[in-house]
Amino acid sequence: MQEPASLPGVPSLAELHARGAAQQPTYPDTAAVDAAVSQLRSYPPLVFAGECDELKEKLAAVARGEAFLLQGGDCAETFAGVTADNIRNKLRVLLQMAVVLTYAASVPVVKLGRFAGQYAKPRSSDFETRDGVTLPAYRGDAVNGYDFTAESRVPDPQRLVDVYHASSATLNLVRAFTTGGYADLRQVHAWNTDFVLGSPVGNRYEAMANEIDRALTFMRAIGADPDEFHRVEMHSSHEALVLEYEHAMTRIDSRTSLPYDVSGHFVWIGERTRQLDGAHVELLSKIRNPIGVKLGPTTSADDAIALAGRLNPENEAGRLTFITRMGAGKINELLPPLVEKVEAAGVKAAWVCDPMHGNTYEASSGYKTRRFDDVIAEVQGFFDVHRALGTWPGGLHVELTGDDVTECVGGGEELAEIDLGSRYESVCDPRLNRVQSLELAFLVAEMLRKA
Ligand code: PEP
Ligand code: CO
Repeated sequence: MQEPASLPGVPSLAELHARGAAQQPTYPDTAAVDAAVSQLRSYPPLVFAGECDELKEKLAAVARGEAFLLQGGDCAETFAGVTADNIRNKLRVLLQMAVVLTYAASVPVVKLGRFAGQYAKPRSSDFETRDGVTLPAYRGDAVNGYDFTAESRVPDPQRLVDVYHASSATLNLVRAFTTGGYADLRQVHAWNTDFVLGSPVGNRYEAMANEIDRALTFMRAIGADPDEFHRVEMHSSHEALVLEYEHAMTRIDSRTSLPYDVSGHFVWIGERTRQLDGAHVELLSKIRNPIGVKLGPTTSADDAIALAGRLNPENEAGRLTFITRMGAGKINELLPPLVEKVEAAGVKAAWVCDPMHGNTYEASSGYKTRRFDDVIAEVQGFFDVHRALGTWPGGLHVELTGDDVTECVGGGEELAEIDLGSRYESVCDPRLNRVQSLELAFLVAEMLRKA
């Protein structure tokens, strides 16, 4: 395995693999892996270390209870999904949600896309069987193809280079949209007004939309027109899963001489790769980006405290975000002892709710789905638990799209299991569609105002 000339303070890829890394592709051709990794190492950073530091500052405000995080996007991005329409629709729904949440929370909303790098997926099984044929599981466009053929399922390291280019194209468009006028606050509010007035689902939220309208009219009347009305700051994030990619994108920052993973502003460790002595915890403990860890229902408080010790030994606010994903039926029981003990240990972390991954089930038609009501119930549980403990419910991590897909059931449009087949496009987990995402934002806004 080829290693860079120098990456001080970061273990080599070989050292990481020696830990027995979970959820890694088995590449048949190691020379091709070396070639892809060297190619990636020669490319410019996708994000700058200074931008990662800025995001870390914002997440420190989340940890202190002075800001709220909205993190969202696809479960799995695909190369075919890198189109202007797709990226714009996703961005638009995130911006719409953020306006509603900002108004209700009365604190800044930190906007973090689950995009520009979210191409690799952990799987519960290494294999998939259809009609008696068993093939390697699809692990995301970063690793192999979705088509159910033997050729397509072979892991191809050149796909990591494709991830770089797809992420680069996505980030370029996001940067253009967020600074080039598209994200103008009045425009975003006008889209929300369209949603509220233009659909029976939106109607319920008319009162809040009117309040926001009055606030904006007041601002205009007094002549206030700050820069913040015309552009937004949006950062990128993904699960740091394939070691070759994340290691090749780790660089020494020229300002500070410290390592950053410049494949995205924020990277997180998934529920299946958070082993304390595992490769993912080791690599992410060395980079200086703000990072997250998913915490599922089996997490003990001691696990979380130990993770914080490894990943954030200096206990720096903003460095570490715990993303809990317990499931609607379990959160009220499991979250209180976890939060209480972690807080009592003095751990500084932002607490964020992923109301998606604990609520997935298979519909009778075979589609993987989630009930909108379960998503809402987990978020409600999250707010209730934090309110009772006096801790800050720091934000939301959601799988969503700006398109009118049919992947999650329920919501005001009352999507039924029988409707799932009409537009099911996710190659992995079911996402909230545009209307469900906006409803979620308005419902969470109501929860925030009650809090
Ligand atoms: C995901 O975020 O898509 C995911 C796989 O989550 P988790 O690691 O929490 O299961
Ligand atoms: Co997912």
